[in-house]
Amino acid sequence: MKNEIEEQYKFMNKVNELNTGKELKYSIFTMGCQLNENDSEKICGILEKMGYSKVDDINEADIVCFNTCCVRENAEDKLFGKIGEMKRQKEKKGTIIAIGGCMMQEKHIVEKLHSSYPYVDIIFGTHTLHKLPEDIYKILEERKRIDDVIDIDGEVYEGLPIKRDDIIKASVTIMYGCNNFCSYCIVPYVRGRERSRDYEDILNEVRNLAQNGYKEITLLGQNVNSYDGGENYKFSNLLYDVNKIDGIERIRFVSPHPKDFTEDVIEAIKKCDKVCKIIHLPLQSGSSKVLKSMNRKYTKEQFINLAEKMKESIPEVVFSTDIIVGFPGETEEDFEDTLDVVKKVNFEQVYMFIYSRRVGTPGDKMENQIPEEIKHKRFDRLKTLVESGISKNNQKYIGTIQKVLVEGQSKNNPNMLTGRTDSNKVVIFEGTKDLIHSIIDLKIVSEHMWYLKGKII
Ligand code: SAH
Ligand code: SF4
Ligand code: F3S
Repeated sequence: MKNEIEEQYKFMNKVNELNTGKELKYSIFTMGCQLNENDSEKICGILEKMGYSKVDDINEADIVCFNTCCVRENAEDKLFGKIGEMKRQKEKKGTIIAIGGCMMQEKHIVEKLHSSYPYVDIIFGTHTLHKLPEDIYKILEERKRIDDVIDIDGEVYEGLPIKRDDIIKASVTIMYGCNNFCSYCIVPYVRGRERSRDYEDILNEVRNLAQNGYKEITLLGQNVNSYDGGENYKFSNLLYDVNKIDGIERIRFVSPHPKDFTEDVIEAIKKCDKVCKIIHLPLQSGSSKVLKSMNRKYTKEQFINLAEKMKESIPEVVFSTDIIVGFPGETEEDFEDTLDVVKKVNFEQVYMFIYSRRVGTPGDKMENQIPEEIKHKRFDRLKTLVESGISKNNQKYIGTIQKVLVEGQSKNNPNMLTGRTDSNKVVIFEGTKDLIHSIIDLKIVSEHMWYLKGKII
């Protein structure tokens, strides 16, 4: 694997030589989850190493890269729309178009690109991102369209360049792929089976980030608590070891699976002072019957018990979650079970999704699909409940002192600063720019649904 990456560095150097003195530019569009964002940081690292610099205006770009997601349907229309818009620019200035990511692992999408958008130069998949330097070199030299998608699981590649989006918060992918095959989900088909990185590679990356001033680390994977570092080195071991790294002040992780919250993981969350006490606990549905057909491997009661057990062990813990509305076969009663769990667990944050049929998944083949109108009505009911829960929860913050990592100036009001609490709430407050990137104590004075207002004490 090392040789493979060394080989790719040779291509990066070759392209860099070809580009010398040309001041070439690139644009990138990232459409997916945090894993995709982390992949995009690697793509940016590769492109910059080859002599391209980043521009927001797509019209100025010599390479445009799309890093796609296919977890829900709406991303497809968006991608095809954007590629359609690029046709004129391609004809005018020969812009290289490269499309990668999860959607490229879907055959019907690649076929559609071939037939309707033949001017796309490079199609690469989730297992071939590391070969982008070679693909770009070949395009520059041979001007031939390249398909670089493989179906077999990729290896774990270390040592690619990376250009991070932030200078204070960083994501570190700890494992690739997913073995769970939840029946609604396309991810296992497009990301392959679970592969964990060596823990030493992960720890070195975090140490390096700490040395470069990073304070907050998010450990990433589709099922982080099934991380397997070998020799009985598990996710809990990783939490303890990252917790020991000087300079890192906050540790988050997404996504864990409720079925893998073993005692040792709960204990590690409790004992590691830097691990934020907001835990993502993806519910998906509150109905045991729907959970079974989703292949989630827990019941409504087990989920509630897990949340209660964690609260007993870690009194300050709060939860965020993901919920899908309108999975095939979901009855009014099933949906009410979901509402019931939302009321009981009192989530701090809820990411809500309307079920979207994905080609190739068992859910897509189920007969009892829910009509769009009912899905939307249920979604609105859930949203109303969630919003009332959030504003109630926000009340609890008023008058408290919170540690806030100051991220920068507020986008809506440059006179104000913005940051996040340990529990990931946005806090806006008045302060001087020298506070940016530090962790400070703020008194919360008011709540505004999606953010809190704070005051320096
Ligand atoms: N591995 C993570 C997240 C995967 S995708 C986990 O298991 O939590 C992020 C979220 O998208 C999922 O948690 C789920 O709520 C949602 N999702 C996945 N497939 C979906 C589909 N077909 N329709 C609607 N939402 C979906
Ligand atoms: Fe998809 Fe389930 Fe894997 Fe998450 S755990 S990526 S929802 S199959
Ligand atoms: Fe989307 Fe792929 Fe992430 S399908 S959610 S970008 S793993």
